[in-house]
Amino acid sequence: MRLSGRVSIITGGGGGIGRATALRFSEEGANVVVADLDESRGEETVRLIREKNGHGMYVRTNVRDSESMQELVHKTVEHFGSLDILVNNAGIGQSEVRSIDLEETEWDDVLDTNLKSIFLGMKHSIPELMKKGGVIVNVSSLLGLKGRKYVSAYNAAKGGVVLLTQNAALEYGKEGIRVNAVAPGVIDTNIIEGWKKDERKWSVISQSNALRRIGNPDEVASAILFLASDEASFITGSTLSVDGGGLIY
Ligand SMILES: NC(=O)c1ccc[n+]([C@@H]2O[C@H](COP(=O)([O-])OP(=O)(O)OC[C@H]3O[C@@H](n4cnc5c(N)ncnc54)[C@H](O)[C@@H]3O)[C@@H](O)[C@H]2O)c1
Repeated sequence: MRLSGRVSIITGGGGGIGRATALRFSEEGANVVVADLDESRGEETVRLIREKNGHGMYVRTNVRDSESMQELVHKTVEHFGSLDILVNNAGIGQSEVRSIDLEETEWDDVLDTNLKSIFLGMKHSIPELMKKGGVIVNVSSLLGLKGRKYVSAYNAAKGGVVLLTQNAALEYGKEGIRVNAVAPGVIDTNIIEGWKKDERKWSVISQSNALRRIGNPDEVASAILFLASDEASFITGSTLSVDGGGLIY
């Protein structure tokens, strides 16, 4: 097993990519803390983990809130004794409008949930990870590597995640902490439900990559697992595209 006995936190663990990652980590022997704002979805992930005799715990968490993130790390260490892996995955989409029409409140919501959350996750977990080394995997997006019309806040936040990942890799590499990101393309989760409603747009979006299909959460979980495992022991500061060739399309 690739993560035997390791203690992990997965933010947004009640959702598509987060839940798939939580289940995958558990199958590989990790203790998994599922951190999500949505209690019923978070608890459901833990139920699925326990159903397969894994070790999981739900902690209600708001990734935008510093105290809540600090409490998450505290509860994890209290319950499982340490922390080895943080997956900063929770995030939200945005309404598709020109930047001049975007409400400032929505800009703040998207930046706080998708970028400040990554800063907070790292700020509160790195002191714990420094004790014996560890791994962080941040979830960016294809839209963190490539501009697209009408998603200004999401573009800015996810682009920020890529550079924050490089920054932390440089700052904490000598402490034995690896920090990487994944950049998923279009993945079949709740976040893209809105896109599916517009048939014409969806037929373009869903095929805009080399493989001509959307991805599924397990395919992103596999990449996160790889980066979190010892197989990636010499990889840090990188952003791995998991997009069916969307970036090169
Ligand atoms: N699905 C895609 O096409 C796609 C593509 C690129 C990147 N991503 C990124 O993947 C990550 C996971 O998204 P997903 O596609 O699984 O969507 P999802 O909506 O299924 O899951 C997101 C989870 O995050 C949780 N969450 C939202 N705000 C939170 C908060 N403030 N505090 C704690 N939890 C919160 C939600 O409750 C939900 O369980 C996000 O960062 C998203 O931006 C998704």
